[in-house]
Amino acid sequence: MEPKRAQWGSKVGFILAAAGSAVGLGNIWKFPGKAFEGGGGAYILIYLAIVLLIGIPVMLSELTIGRAAQANAVDSFEKLRHPGFKWVGWIGVIVAFIITSYYAHVGGWVLRYVAGYATESGKIYADPLGYFYGLLGYNAATGETWFPLTAIIFGAIFMAATCYIIIKGVEDGIERFNKFGMPALFIILIILLVRALTMPGAAEGLSYMLIPDWSKVTFSTVLSALGQAFFSLSLGMSIMITYGSYLKKEENLTKNTVIICGMDTLVALIAGFIIVPAVFATLGAEGVGKGAGFAFSSLAGVFQQMPGGQIFGILFYLLLLFAALTSCISLLEGVVAFVTERFGWKRTATTVILGIIMFIIGCVYTCSQAAFDIKGIWFDFKNGFTTPIFGDFMEFLTDRLLIPISALGACLFVGWAWKPQNAIREIEMDGKPFGLKGAYSFLVKYLAPICIIVIIVASFATGTTLS
Ligand code: PFF
Repeated sequence: MEPKRAQWGSKVGFILAAAGSAVGLGNIWKFPGKAFEGGGGAYILIYLAIVLLIGIPVMLSELTIGRAAQANAVDSFEKLRHPGFKWVGWIGVIVAFIITSYYAHVGGWVLRYVAGYATESGKIYADPLGYFYGLLGYNAATGETWFPLTAIIFGAIFMAATCYIIIKGVEDGIERFNKFGMPALFIILIILLVRALTMPGAAEGLSYMLIPDWSKVTFSTVLSALGQAFFSLSLGMSIMITYGSYLKKEENLTKNTVIICGMDTLVALIAGFIIVPAVFATLGAEGVGKGAGFAFSSLAGVFQQMPGGQIFGILFYLLLLFAALTSCISLLEGVVAFVTERFGWKRTATTVILGIIMFIIGCVYTCSQAAFDIKGIWFDFKNGFTTPIFGDFMEFLTDRLLIPISALGACLFVGWAWKPQNAIREIEMDGKPFGLKGAYSFLVKYLAPICIIVIIVASFATGTTLS
């Protein structure tokens, strides 16, 4: 007899875990910078359209596949009698592996900022950009570079914490943390939003975010928004298939999908409307051109200009740290669960070995930011082979290629192999009729896959620039 699969203890437990996975560095560190580079308002409109028309149907599909199959992402396709689609799960695991490698390091930078605001906020205020570059081993004034030991040490601490939690399985603690951590993060974001928008000079940033500048939009921008939406919603990485497999049949899949996507997108938007206006108000023209480290350098001026700013600084990075930790746990858990189930390895050994390998790869990521000139190889049809910075290359590979392809696989599977009527039957297991059957079938069969294919192909044909 098969052992009974674990199930979510409560409805809230699932929502919190899924939202905890979705809300993370992607929303606060990545989104604002991309929105800025992609034409502000124009990027936001594209992003919202993608979440609505592609993100929501893909998330619903992934959760439904998992719940119907009651298995991990790779085996789910076999269980639903289409083993030819196992590659979707495989890509998901590979992507999660690559992303965890750098994610844990950026989590380490966040931890450094918690300590930084606690002990040397004056130094951060005095030179916000310099402080950030300094962490990564670069002095912008002299051009001097060095090994970014501090960033690496903090990255190691973050990775060790993630591994520790996975080995100890303290999900209860995380669930409890999420219950107050998520609302707390939300409240602090609202406070920062008010402060940022009322700073002198912020209006220029606000209008940049509200008035679309279509001149900055290319197919590459749209592909970047597509990858960002999947990354932020934790899609294309097997996670939602796995999470769906722990769901009870009486849960309402559509409602859960809308809540998770809505929360994640709201947090990203608020972060964008804090950080971009703050960049205009505090770093001025010099900072505006420098997308790197948006969430790190641009907020210093905001904290400096508010009463109790240092406390807010500590609190903000602490909450961001936990948001990053809950996301990183879900990423690493996906890889560990797969390796242990598939190869029968022990959980502790698997976690430690994977953690160490990922940490080492992440060191190359951190070093490539400023201290060393490490490059990766990338290809597109317009530019041929190019060699972007290794860190950018990792994001290129995952956000712009592997994640969209894995999400495309999930659509093709539901739309054409397993068939929408089977997915709809699974969705209606909770006893409630699914009102948007026709729309869902159309989106998952035609609109989402065609859009994903067109965006990838057009972007490669016209050149995938970084912005
Ligand atoms: N969604 C997370 C974020 O926006 O930071 C990152 C992430 C976590 C992606 C878990 C994928 C995943 F499976």
